[in-house]
Amino acid sequence: MPIDLPPTLCFRVTRYCNARCGFCLAPPDGAHPDVGTLIRRLDWLLLRGVKTIHFCGGEPTIHPGLPVLLEHVQAQGGTMKLTTNGITLSDVLLTTLYATHTQVKVSLNGNREHHDAMVGRKAFEHTTRNLQRLIAAGILTSVQTTVVAGAQEVVEWVAGFCLETKIRRLSIMPFIPRGNGLDRREAYEMSSVQRRALRELVAQKRRALSGRLDLRWLDFTARPIHVVEADGRVILEGATEAKDDVLCQIPL
Ligand SMILES: C[S@@+](CC[C@H](N)C(=O)[O-])C[C@H]1O[C@@H](n2cnc3c(N)ncnc32)[C@H](O)[C@@H]1O
Ligand code: SF4
Repeated sequence: MPIDLPPTLCFRVTRYCNARCGFCLAPPDGAHPDVGTLIRRLDWLLLRGVKTIHFCGGEPTIHPGLPVLLEHVQAQGGTMKLTTNGITLSDVLLTTLYATHTQVKVSLNGNREHHDAMVGRKAFEHTTRNLQRLIAAGILTSVQTTVVAGAQEVVEWVAGFCLETKIRRLSIMPFIPRGNGLDRREAYEMSSVQRRALRELVAQKRRALSGRLDLRWLDFTARPIHVVEADGRVILEGATEAKDDVLCQIPL
């Protein structure tokens, strides 16, 4: 039966990663396909009407084929987004991101102490330096922040960081219990009261910063999203793994 795909979907380049976030919804426990396999998958998707490929993972920047994948999608008439932890960013990748007009989201979860604790390694320095490189290179770059229970104050800190760094968009994502996050839900999950309070805080700050920072609430549980897993399955992902629907395996 022909599969109905949306215009934009999340494409996991790899399940390998150079960080170890305790909350990770797609942790480094899966496949790392070669570039030829990934190109065949991209062609399959683009032929079926997908227009925008949102490269994610795992950590997409650690796949050496990423620049080739970006160029390939552009050559086929597609557009690209990339979500990254920003720990590594080669000169070749930086140049390719600019040349292919890729929009980049960098995950930054708070100040140095909080960010490094969240991602399980010293990362803040690398991530913030690479954010500056992206902005200096003229690449459309925004920040994405995952908020866990008891850490609401990061919203204030990250918003201040974005204003200082001249970043124009910040997405706040409440923690969801998937992947590693399912095992850590006792520590990380907000109660419904905390979640409502966070949402209200984001709405208030959005109004206060209107015209200076586009502050968004991005809740992965709001509706299922289409994801191409690193093993080639196309999945409609819900709030929890139990709600996932495997639509097909890309036949390559
Ligand atoms: C799975 S990561 C993959 C891309 C890249 N490795 C990164 O961290 O940006 C995509 C985004 O999901 C966020 N994220 C991961 N686990 C999450 C969870 N359990 N709840 C909410 N957001 C989560 C990450 O912080 C990141 O912004
Ligand atoms: S959230 Fe991103 S950086 Fe963190 S472990 Fe998961 S894939 Fe890696």
